[in-house]
Amino acid sequence: MIITIANQKGGVGKTTIAYHLVHYFALKGRKILAVDMDPQANLTQTFTNKVNESSLVTLLYQRKRPIPQKISDNIDLLCNDITTAIYERRINPLDYEKLKNYLNSVASLYNAIIIDTPPNLGLFCISALLSADYVVIPIDASIYSLRGLGDLLATIDEVRENNEKLRIAGIILNQLNVRTIVGQEVEKEIRKRFSKLYLGFVKQSVRARETAFMRRPNVKLYEEVFKELEVRIFGEKERLD
Ligand SMILES: Nc1ncnc2c1ncn2[C@@H]1O[C@H](COP(=O)(O)OP(=O)(O)OP(=O)(O)O)[C@@H](O)[C@H]1O
Ligand SMILES: [Mg+2]
Repeated sequence: MIITIANQKGGVGKTTIAYHLVHYFALKGRKILAVDMDPQANLTQTFTNKVNESSLVTLLYQRKRPIPQKISDNIDLLCNDITTAIYERRINPLDYEKLKNYLNSVASLYNAIIIDTPPNLGLFCISALLSADYVVIPIDASIYSLRGLGDLLATIDEVRENNEKLRIAGIILNQLNVRTIVGQEVEKEIRKRFSKLYLGFVKQSVRARETAFMRRPNVKLYEEVFKELEVRIFGEKERLD
């Protein structure tokens, strides 16, 4: 099962959600491969400050095979660093297949593969969508988020021409300030507008913000949305409690 976290809008919580989803599944005994497809390498840095050169995504574009780095018993990580950025500018149609081919060759070793993507609709995001069974879309409670969503949904439709299995697992409203009237109104509006696609919200909280500094997940903050996501992805029966 390959799950891509995507939104070309920056700072909506892709990396934070990817990091927590990896832990949520791993804590339930699933073997997870986390893949950092963003040259900013935020996911990599949240997991570790010691990156094995042999685990770098860059290798995929140099016709080499990366070896995922072990983070814990149930978590492996394909790391990123800024050197990957040059491949975003290279125009080589074959590059779009490289991630998918690699992940297909290791998929049997994992119960789920979770991919974090950069804030654009370039090579790395498209490659991640071409590889995925499901896409999870984090948004924040702003009007820009809703406007940008149209472009992302159109891109997902285009990718489907080459990846029929791709489905939207759902939209997560992140960093919601539930104590303001505006926050409550936006939540209501999004719930209505996206109905079944809407997975729920994650509150704005200092604890979520601290994750990156502390290198420690706060899975509780995400539990409700992730439970719903788990049912959609693995089905009711396979939910592990
Ligand atoms: N629920 C939350 N409450 C408060 N802060 C949050 C929450 N979720 C994420 N943040 C903070 O918001 C910022 C952006 O989050 P994150 O890096 O996960 O977004 P992103 O979509 O991956 O960004 P980019 O597009 O740059 O990759 C970070 O500082 C993060 O700690
Ligand atoms: Mg990010």
